[in-house]
Amino acid sequence: MHEIVLVEIDGKPVAVQAGSTVASALLAAGIPARRSISGEARAPLCGMGVCYECRVEINGIPQKRGCMVLCHASMKVRTQ
Ligand code: FES
Repeated sequence: MHEIVLVEIDGKPVAVQAGSTVASALLAAGIPARRSISGEARAPLCGMGVCYECRVEINGIPQKRGCMVLCHASMKVRTQ
């Protein structure tokens, strides 16, 4: 059985499986990682650190690639 942890995304608690990536947590929660200049929702594309479409702020550090960071309890994520 996989452990469930609570991650804060844009101030809201989201339950995710421990060990899943921040990008997959955002996808599962239906939250776009960021918006384009014209306001369109952007989402993870490659899932392997190449496209940078998953950039979010993680624990106060901006421009982190969500697909390269694993979720852990009490993590704070802010979409950009
Ligand atoms: S999904 Fe492409 S860099 Fe993260």
